[in-house]
Amino acid sequence: MRAPPPPLLLLAAVLLLLASPATVNGGDGQQLAPNAAAGAGQGGEKPGAAGAGQGGEDFQEVGLKTYLIIVCRANGPKGGDELREWHASLLASLLNTTTDMVLREALSHVGSRLVFSFQHVVSGFAARLTDREVAELSKLPWCVEALPDATLRLTTTYTPELLGVSTPATGAWSVAGSMGEGVIVGILDNGIDPRHVSFLDDGMQPPPAKWRGGCHFAGEAPCNKKLIGGRSRAPQEHGTHTSGTAVGAFVRDVQLLGAPAGAASGMAPRAHLAFYEVCLADTCSATEVLSVTEKGAFQDGVDVISMSIGDDTQKPFYKDLIAVGSFSAVLSGVFVSTSAGNAGPLERTVTNCAPWLLTVAASTMGRRMLSRVELGNGVVMEGENLNPYELVKDRPLVFIAGMFADGALSAVDVRGKVVACQRKEDPFMLAEMIQKAGGAGMISWSGPKRGAATTPVDDLAIPASRVTHADGEKIIAYVNSTPNPTATLSFAGAVLNRASLPAIAEYSSRGPCNMSSVGVLKPDITGPGTAIAASVPGGANDTAPTKTFGLHSGTSMSTPHLSGIVAMIKKARPQWSPAAIKSALMTTADVTHPDGTPIVDETTGKPNCFAMGAGFVNPTRALDPGLVYDLAPADYIPYVCGLGYNESVMSEIMAQPLQNVSCAKAGRIQGKDLNYPSIMVTLTPAAPEVDVKRAVTNIGEPVSVYTLEVVPPEGVTVEVVPNVLTFGLVNQRMEFTVKLKRAANAAAVGTAEGSLRWVSGKRSVRSPIAVLFEPLPNN
Ligand SMILES: *[C@@H]1O[C@H](CO)[C@@H](O)[C@H](O)[C@H]1NC(C)=O
Ligand SMILES: *[C@@H]1O[C@H](CO)[C@@H](O)[C@H](O)[C@H]1NC(C)=O
Ligand SMILES: *[C@@H]1O[C@H](CO)[C@@H](O)[C@H](O)[C@H]1NC(C)=O
Ligand SMILES: *[C@@H]1O[C@H](CO)[C@@H](O)[C@H](O)[C@H]1NC(C)=O
Ligand SMILES: *[C@@H]1O[C@H](CO)[C@@H](O)[C@H](O)[C@H]1NC(C)=O
Repeated sequence: MRAPPPPLLLLAAVLLLLASPATVNGGDGQQLAPNAAAGAGQGGEKPGAAGAGQGGEDFQEVGLKTYLIIVCRANGPKGGDELREWHASLLASLLNTTTDMVLREALSHVGSRLVFSFQHVVSGFAARLTDREVAELSKLPWCVEALPDATLRLTTTYTPELLGVSTPATGAWSVAGSMGEGVIVGILDNGIDPRHVSFLDDGMQPPPAKWRGGCHFAGEAPCNKKLIGGRSRAPQEHGTHTSGTAVGAFVRDVQLLGAPAGAASGMAPRAHLAFYEVCLADTCSATEVLSVTEKGAFQDGVDVISMSIGDDTQKPFYKDLIAVGSFSAVLSGVFVSTSAGNAGPLERTVTNCAPWLLTVAASTMGRRMLSRVELGNGVVMEGENLNPYELVKDRPLVFIAGMFADGALSAVDVRGKVVACQRKEDPFMLAEMIQKAGGAGMISWSGPKRGAATTPVDDLAIPASRVTHADGEKIIAYVNSTPNPTATLSFAGAVLNRASLPAIAEYSSRGPCNMSSVGVLKPDITGPGTAIAASVPGGANDTAPTKTFGLHSGTSMSTPHLSGIVAMIKKARPQWSPAAIKSALMTTADVTHPDGTPIVDETTGKPNCFAMGAGFVNPTRALDPGLVYDLAPADYIPYVCGLGYNESVMSEIMAQPLQNVSCAKAGRIQGKDLNYPSIMVTLTPAAPEVDVKRAVTNIGEPVSVYTLEVVPPEGVTVEVVPNVLTFGLVNQRMEFTVKLKRAANAAAVGTAEGSLRWVSGKRSVRSPIAVLFEPLPNN
């Protein structure tokens, strides 16, 4: 059975009604210094690291760009001050200056060339260099590679289609166990309002002794027992929202747009928060993410890293600094939670594909803002719109097929009429143009790819309804069938759709990862992402705490839900490895609603493991999974070796954990054989049979018997050996092999999905089985 939905979901229906256009659209885009992201060093102190670039003031210096310089560590010192000085000396040799000068400059925080000296996550340092200096680098024997800083994106969709409605967060998150006490969640984002009431520390314990981070926030906002440290120059909408979603404290009497909206809290209201600014507005520096990952995980003592950040372009892991930094972090026990991206519903768009990351997809929450369409022939359609409007009754209906921007609208007299159109253009612009032309209303729909999605937008200039693609086709047929078509538009407000059932949101990026080498199914899991209410900066003055709540949509919003849930699990099950926690989350995730109907992709109305991963998170069940697919740090080595990266590059970049590893000794495995909680294989006519190896560890009752339930993917036979697992001990590990065979009559192309479930009494340990009938790009 499902756990009660998290509190953020509960009041959605109420607040949808309260949404006001002004608040809904006001959110994003507080630009700080323009052009700053790429070169942004860390401001403030930098304990244990030589580099202290300067936040804000100096990074527009002409010609200097940030690079990650990977160095061959064979001859270098092992760590500490010696390593830092060695990095400074290498840089000094390039700059024709002295080591002392480089170090002194770094400490003075002015115009520093050395941005960060890495001790853990890679062998190398970040430095700000001119193009000429970078060219010089290639001649130096110690430099393995100079990677220019990359721009990553925060994964909130700021497109108006996805922003919108207004939900308060309310109630107590009462899942059994913990609320994250003593666990430190590090949020990497664009800025936080440290004075928000969600970050007050009533009832909090002091941070654990291992916390060693500093406190660097703009204005008078000393850290407290909730917001224990980190850095932020200015309050930002996105970072305040993600932080509140993950660990926001209980806040009573939340006001939303002037109306009372109950109480609010994050997923782990008793966890501590360390906030790290790595982005400006919605662009983030990859080097900054890397240095903060090292700082948070290896110096400050963070337990869970949450980053709603992704790289728009999929890269091999050694060039993907989120993957690189988190590799070392996860291998030392830190959990890293990331977003799948908002490039759906297109296939193969998912980012953050590394198997050591948790990759989170987003769902809607099954609540709709009904804007009803009744055609003259009596057909009624349930579209959506965010804002109430006056009834538009029995107006003439016209369908305009062409692009408005090309003048299609001006060719038609739409005065007093309802205009039906396809959403090939910005809906705000469409509505405004119809209004200017004297139209009375708008009915719009998206192309077939977005299918059944009717995600509403707010603040359209005229009464409007977004209907499904299929309904749009019906409207065209109706208009063509009668000389005098008419339509009525009526706003019906928020309704619960099928008892508030989530569906995978159209914008959530779909798998599989677009690289054959990855070999694991992504995204991993789904959390609520559409119209999430959480803390946002308000217009508070320097003395009064902010108590503003607002809405955002995106995988940026689903990710901190999972991060908070992980903090709770970490507190309740401190002995679990990151891989065990991830396995527990994935194998217990819901794939059906309480009424037994499947959780579907909102664009197709069908289940889709490439959209939702293992399923919709069920925090209560995750606390007691029975069996886990665990991975020790050493288990990742054959996988990384199997990726086929050049060994020297790999050992310097994938860093510390691999230092002494020889792939010849460790061996190489394919992604399908990594002991992952989901299964993905490619079955082509040329290679129609694949065996997959797995091992489960018993963390339930010592004596337990698990039997097998398999749902074979269409066109595939599945045999599991053995098909009964009999355990006699806790922590006993048992292996099994899954033999997958493409049927002679299997689909020639595309994908298929099934599942494998180990069942014992009340426990069910489920893995999706994803099958690709065509190979992925070999990049
Ligand atoms: C390095 O600096 C010294 C002293 O400032 C100067 O004599 C020398 O020519 C410089 N070398 C290079 C390669 O620029
Ligand atoms: C996947 O990779 C192929 C080959 O590199 C590329 O052509 C395609 O555009 C990529 N697809 C997506 C969705 O990025
Ligand atoms: C700040 O806000 C509080 C509460 O609204 C108010 O009492 C106080 O006077 C304000 N201070 C300033 C400097 O505006
Ligand atoms: C690995 O790659 C680096 C840079 O791409 C190159 O300099 C080096 O020779 C390669 N090493 C091996 C063993 O192929
Ligand atoms: C790597 O090798 C060094 C020296 O050979 C040794 O001190 C260190 O413990 C080894 N590290 C690991 C992780 O095996």
